[in-house]
Amino acid sequence: MIVIKNVNAIDGSVSNVEISSDASDVIDGTGLTILPAVIDPHVHFRTPGLEYKEDWTHASRAAINGGCSMVFDMPNVLPPTITEELLIAKKALIEKQLQNVGIPLRYELYIGADKQHVDQLAMVKNQVVGIKVFMGCSTGNLVIDDDESLRKVFEIAAANDMLVAVHAEDEEMMHASKAQHFRAGDYTCHSDIRNIDVAVKAVEKALMLCEKYKTRLYILHVSSGAEIQLIREAKQRSLPVFAETTPHHLFFDTSAYKSLHGRACVNPALRDAAQQALLFAAIKEGVIDTIGSDHAPHTKEEKDQPYGQCPSGMPGIEFMLPVLLNAHHQGFISLDDVVNITSRNARKIFRLPDYQDWVLVDLNKTAEVTHTASKCGWSPYMSQRFTGWPRYTIMRGQIFAMEAAIIS
Ligand code: DOR
Ligand code: ZN
Repeated sequence: MIVIKNVNAIDGSVSNVEISSDASDVIDGTGLTILPAVIDPHVHFRTPGLEYKEDWTHASRAAINGGCSMVFDMPNVLPPTITEELLIAKKALIEKQLQNVGIPLRYELYIGADKQHVDQLAMVKNQVVGIKVFMGCSTGNLVIDDDESLRKVFEIAAANDMLVAVHAEDEEMMHASKAQHFRAGDYTCHSDIRNIDVAVKAVEKALMLCEKYKTRLYILHVSSGAEIQLIREAKQRSLPVFAETTPHHLFFDTSAYKSLHGRACVNPALRDAAQQALLFAAIKEGVIDTIGSDHAPHTKEEKDQPYGQCPSGMPGIEFMLPVLLNAHHQGFISLDDVVNITSRNARKIFRLPDYQDWVLVDLNKTAEVTHTASKCGWSPYMSQRFTGWPRYTIMRGQIFAMEAAIIS
C-alpha cells in the first residue's frame, strides 16, 4: 500500500490517499495536488527503425517526468506498422526497451492505414487502439490520398467498431499550396503552405465519412477555429467525433519561427495568436476533448537543415503537463479542464480500464527547463520558466520521482 499524507484534491480539500501496491511506502503530500496520471494519445517514439531520433528507454523517462503513465504510439516508423506481423514485432521491441530501463509504461499502438494493406485492419482490431490515417503526407510515406481508399477504411472501421484517428491535411491541396507559397530558406512559409484551408478540407472529408458510416472519428492536432466550428457542428449532430489539440498549437504561434527556426516546423503548422485563443475557448466549451503531445523528435542536425529538408515535428511529452499547469497558474485554463483534456476524456473516448495511476504536482513550484530526457536532446521549451511541476508519478503501484529536468 502507498499512503500519500495530507495531499490536496483538485477541489482543494486535503486528505490521506491510499493506493494499492505490493510495496509499502509513505509520501508526504503536503503542498502537493493529486491528479490522474496523464494519458498521451499521440506520440512518435520512433521504434523501429528511427531509434537515432528517440527510443522507448529515453521517451519513457520523458513521459514519467511529465506525469504520464500511458501513451498511444503512431505507426510512421521504419518499416511502417501496417500489418499484424509488423505490429507484433514492434511490441516485442518496445517490451525489451522498457524492460531494459525498468519503466513499465502503459502503451497502446495504432495500426497505419495503407492502401495495399486494408485487409489487415480488421485482423488487428483487438490489438490496437485505432487506425491512423494520414490524409496528407507528413514524416514518412504513409498516406491515404484517394477517396476510395479513405472510404474503405472508414467502412471497415465502422463494421469492426474501430476508431479512426486522422491526420487531417488534404494532400492535393497541399501540393497546390506548395507551388504557390514555397520560399527557399524561409521556414515561415511552412504555415502558408500547410495553411488552415488545407486542414479544413480534410476535416470536412473525414466528417462526411464519419456521418455516412458512423465511424468513431478522432481528429488529431486540431489547430484552428475553422476546424473547431466543423467539429462543433458535427457534435451537435451527435456524430461520434472527438478532437485533440497539442501543446505546441496552444503555446506557440507563427512568431516562434524567429526564435526556433526549423524547430518550429510541425505538421499541421503553427498558426497565429487568434487561433490559439480559439483553441483555449474550445477546451472550455468541450469541443476539444484531449491534448496529445504529438511528441515527434528529430535530431538537432535534422532540424537545422534549410526549409525543404528540415523534417516536421518537435518533442513534447515531458513538458506538456508543466506548460498546462503554468497556463492554469496564469488563469488561461481551469485545473478541472487540465484533467479533462489530459486524462478523463481520453479514458472515455478510448474505453480504457480504470487503472489507478496518479501524478502528484506542486502547483506553486517555479522552475526553468534546463534539459530533457528525450534522446533528441532539445526542447522548444528550453530556458522557459513554468509555475506548476509534477513531482511523483505513481504507475502500476510504483512511485517514480521526477528526475531533475529543471532547476528551481
Ligand atoms: O510534425 C509532425 N511530425 N507531424 C506529423 O504528422 C508527423 C510527425 C513526425 O512523425 O515527425
Ligand atoms: Zn503525430
